[in-house]
Amino acid sequence: MYCTRKVTEDLIWVGADDRRLACFEGVYGVPDGVSYNSYLLLDEKTVLFDTVDKAVYSVFLENVAHTLNGRKLDYLVVQHMEPDHAATQELLLQRYPEAKIVCNAKIQTMMKQFLGVDLSARTVLVKEGDTLNTGKHSFTFVMAPMVHWPEVMMTYDLTDKTLFTADAFGTFGALNGRLFNDETDFFLEDLDEARRYYTNIVGKYGAQVQAVLKKAGKLEIARVCPLHGYVWRSHFGDFLEKYLLWSSYTPEEKSVLLAYASVYGHTENAANILACKLAERGVRVRMYDTSVTPASYIVSDAFRCSHLVFAATTYNAGVFVTMEQLLHDIAAHNLQNRKVALIENGSWAATSGKVMKEILSGLKGIEFIETGVSLKSALAESQLAQLDALADLLAEEINPKPVAGEAAPAAAAEPAVFTPEAVDNKVFSKFSYGVEVLTTRVDGKDYGCIINTAGQVASADPKKITISCIKKNYTCDMVGKAGRFNISILTEDAPYSLFQRFGFQSGRDVDKFADLPYDDRMANGIRYVPEYTNAVLSCEIIDVKDLETQVLYIANVVEAKVLSKAPSCTYGYYHAHIKPKKNPAPEEKECWVCKVCGYVYEGADMPEDFTCPLCKHGKADFEHIVPEVKPKVKGWVCKICGHFEPCEGELPADYTCPLCKHPREDFERAEQ
Ligand code: FEO
Repeated sequence: MYCTRKVTEDLIWVGADDRRLACFEGVYGVPDGVSYNSYLLLDEKTVLFDTVDKAVYSVFLENVAHTLNGRKLDYLVVQHMEPDHAATQELLLQRYPEAKIVCNAKIQTMMKQFLGVDLSARTVLVKEGDTLNTGKHSFTFVMAPMVHWPEVMMTYDLTDKTLFTADAFGTFGALNGRLFNDETDFFLEDLDEARRYYTNIVGKYGAQVQAVLKKAGKLEIARVCPLHGYVWRSHFGDFLEKYLLWSSYTPEEKSVLLAYASVYGHTENAANILACKLAERGVRVRMYDTSVTPASYIVSDAFRCSHLVFAATTYNAGVFVTMEQLLHDIAAHNLQNRKVALIENGSWAATSGKVMKEILSGLKGIEFIETGVSLKSALAESQLAQLDALADLLAEEINPKPVAGEAAPAAAAEPAVFTPEAVDNKVFSKFSYGVEVLTTRVDGKDYGCIINTAGQVASADPKKITISCIKKNYTCDMVGKAGRFNISILTEDAPYSLFQRFGFQSGRDVDKFADLPYDDRMANGIRYVPEYTNAVLSCEIIDVKDLETQVLYIANVVEAKVLSKAPSCTYGYYHAHIKPKKNPAPEEKECWVCKVCGYVYEGADMPEDFTCPLCKHGKADFEHIVPEVKPKVKGWVCKICGHFEPCEGELPADYTCPLCKHPREDFERAEQ
């Protein structure tokens, strides 16, 4: 029986879960299974985005047939030729002989290699920026070499703003019915497996991932459809932030990965003592026995932690096999920018420290901490001080103590005078404000805006609250005229579109309530927002104070009711989880970006009295972005995988690409 889910009205997920697979790619254990995603668009033309692994071919074909409901398949878009997405192509193409294949030239070559037949007669070749129209939808193509193979491309739906990202933004783990990221507690339940997936599958290709993120950062994205894991339709910026860290080899946390290889327990004992000493110093330790934990989990945490400690016994005049395997794995995944400490053990000729160092020393930005420890069979009492020294050094780097001896500033004798340099505006985002919709009504017309300034100031009945509004905000004038208002307290599930509706447009220009499916009002006749709201208050203004740029209203609460148990949305939560993150691509022009709503003012000089045309905040709420000007570097770029090799002159005759191993002939001149 078919098993499908709708992504949008005309885009259907037709993939499947596999919970019986022991090892993904024959290497990576997947105890929670894996999903193979495929998507079918029902436009004037029908379009299938990739196929699935052979393990789930049966339900996949049933899903496609059911979704097509008798229609023919017009296009198969192939974005990646790895068999977990391509092994069912042949069956599908036999079943739908009229379907055209949409792919790039490298994919075409690989299809011939894998399938053994030339399908060029039914292929539409595309390259970067080409478009395909299927009726209501138009698509363009974004090449993504080495994310995760050289032929990979992504597809962007210009109509619905959907980005099909191939392997990128995938995760290990079966979907278990949950197709969308907001149907799981992703950052609590799934992030570890997403990290393990990224670091082990594409971790080596950070530069290529950064290049494609830069291209994708220029697109307006409503949803992301990867080939494994969840469809992202909200809070994608939070996941993107992780990708920016992982692909730039930046640690996610200041902590220690402590991995050890021990035959009879003596090396393990030293590792345990070090772990205790670190914990006593307030350092977080993630600890693994390399003989027990598969390397993919340890590689994943090596990308996560800032400091790495490897402890291993000597074995066959080298290093114990499971540690050797792990370190080669870390080196193969190109980990960079970490501090590393080593503990070796050897009963007669210790070599493990030297071998461990050799394996890792070719990696960029790896710094070895010299306070290593060399054990002879077992940790000696006299060596406890060495572990203390190592723990002290790691703790000092991870949790540096404040510099002692600096005299406290003398108490100010005179009242302090305001100077803009003395006030860091970021401090104000540390207050835990709520976020509300302020509504009022004048001459039969409704007005509303977003505020984050409501607070209770007196608890005796009638209870009193204050709100303040920006003077230039039209609703502010209307509240003054009406003498009364309602406050709808927003909840954490409030969508960004609600903030756009009430926060980023003016009641002078538009009716913010147009098209809303509700018209709920309190006894005072003023509307409120019944959705994404946990409480509503009606207030009568009793006093007004002019605050230069804002007006402060003090009001009695005359009616109040609770609407739901959902948690209130704080200003911090809005910024962390609701407001889309800024474009990760570096700004190319000098500009000012509004920290409240994201409006971009282009130009170097912003007038002092400028106010944001969307949210009405002033210049103080803008961030001045000055693009970094980097001189262009001459070099050669690999036409296969995109690797850039800085080089003024000619590449050596025997040069091969360090990533895809293609020869010098596959490079062309470039500047970056
Ligand atoms: Fe999911 Fe690179 O295949």
